[in-house]
Amino acid sequence: VLLSSALADSFLRCLSQVPNTTTSDFVFTQNDTEYSSLLHSTIINLRFSTSVMPKPLAIITPLTYSHIQSTILCSKHFNIQIRIRSGGHDYAGLSYTSYDQSSFVVLDLQELRSITIESGQNTAWVESGATLGELYYWLSQEGLNLGFPSGICATVGVGGHISGGGFGTMIRKYGLAADNVIDARIVDANGRVLDRESMGEDLFWAIRGGGGGSFGVVVAWKVNLVYVPEKVTVFSLSKTIEQGGSSLFNRWQYIGHNLSEDLFIRVIILPALNKAGNRTMQIIFNSMFLGTVDKLIETVTDSFPELGLQESDCSEMSWIESILFFDNYPEGESIDVLIDRTHKAKSYFNAKSDYVQEPIPEEKLEDIWKWCLEGERPILIMEPHGGKMNEIEETRIPYPHRKGYLYSIQYFEQWQDDTIESSEKRNSWMRKMYENMTPYVSKDPRAAYVNYRDLDLGQNDNAGNTTYLNAMKWGNKYFGDNFERLAMVKGVVDPDNFFFYEQSIPPLIMSE
Ligand code: FDA
Repeated sequence: VLLSSALADSFLRCLSQVPNTTTSDFVFTQNDTEYSSLLHSTIINLRFSTSVMPKPLAIITPLTYSHIQSTILCSKHFNIQIRIRSGGHDYAGLSYTSYDQSSFVVLDLQELRSITIESGQNTAWVESGATLGELYYWLSQEGLNLGFPSGICATVGVGGHISGGGFGTMIRKYGLAADNVIDARIVDANGRVLDRESMGEDLFWAIRGGGGGSFGVVVAWKVNLVYVPEKVTVFSLSKTIEQGGSSLFNRWQYIGHNLSEDLFIRVIILPALNKAGNRTMQIIFNSMFLGTVDKLIETVTDSFPELGLQESDCSEMSWIESILFFDNYPEGESIDVLIDRTHKAKSYFNAKSDYVQEPIPEEKLEDIWKWCLEGERPILIMEPHGGKMNEIEETRIPYPHRKGYLYSIQYFEQWQDDTIESSEKRNSWMRKMYENMTPYVSKDPRAAYVNYRDLDLGQNDNAGNTTYLNAMKWGNKYFGDNFERLAMVKGVVDPDNFFFYEQSIPPLIMSE
């Protein structure tokens, strides 16, 4: 303890040498009363908020780019690791904790969250500390039918989300959030502030989907905004297995990725009670259509008549209202909640991801429902790809799961009562489910989504000795063949591996 407090003091003295700097405005050590509430403010997965989790020496909330630069230089000087946090939604808590015993600080970008909309050009500069909700809200306030294709939960941070790809209800029409980035500002391992031109195309490629935290601190993204119609239509149609949910799901596997690009139908599968009071699985078709209800009915009747969609199942609303619908806010909620940065339902959770390239045989679905029922509160979320995702080359940005990927699966379990047993029970269900699914999902490599960070796929070793070969275990799953290029970019921009963490990209340095 003495050692770490002495280190924190030295670090603080280093930061205070920067001209015109009052560290008390933006540096919080364990002696400061704000430290604990600040640390916990954006921890979304309560598994990583417990007292046994390693805590940072200090939390730095930079007010200017120079605070980031000095944090990098002082951390380097004292051999302290940096964890970069924007929205704190990292599934493994990697933005605010460290699994090894290294000393680390958290660089929390929550004060850098301005959004500048250049409506004449349909672009915006968005600082990393902004949440998706803030971005959506301020876009809606422009009244110009402008939106942005990114994730579904409003409190997710723009910084981590875009760094890992980022997808939501407009994925089939416009691709990933990272596909729509046209410039960025980053502070690199040498403390230099770079934009697209000065960082060069290799680094600009790597930061758009190569996973946050390996290449530098992204301070802001310049994004292309997209047109959203005056009215969109949403529905959530639920069928239990007994009501034919299984065969509808089977049908969806063949067409979900082939529907009109304006139509996004994801599938959420979770346990429910049937009429007899027995536990069964419920298949929910959860959808957004970029258009009016009559056009939606026409489209669904044409392409997915088995769904039996009726006008009464649907609600027409503005695009910004659809954000509240997907984020499970009650009907009539004010859109002002989108600028409330407090996450509404923190929980303990665990997740894994997969991708499906061939429809799972219908006769095997029963097994899958059975495995789900062995879990306590499992949720499977299947997100269709296809559409725009098919048109984008696998190598255009690091996210490689494009043409031929029908849908992603997220296995998710959350709980409120944390005990070692409940945690263990859930983790073991999750691992077994993942194991059981092996024959039905992508292979060689078995693909995974870096934004659903999963440390079971492998980790860098504690001493910071990352090898490219070791990291391929998870790197190829997240990035396919793009992993090698990511490691080569890392070898050029951060050869000393300053931006290191449990699953950071290792530097691959080619000898002459
Ligand atoms: P956080 O701050 O925890 O950062 C995540 C990672 O990025 C960490 O490694 C961090 O160090 C790094 N990082 C953060 N800011 C950085 C910066 N400025 N520069 C460099 N590195 C940075 N995903 C999706 O695609 N679609 C969805 O709909 C959802 N929905 C969703 C709901 C909920 C409840 C959760 C918890 C998560 C999601 N996600 C998601 C996953 C989400 O996209 C993913 O967790 C993002 O990395 C979160 O970004 P944050 O900035 O919030 O996280």
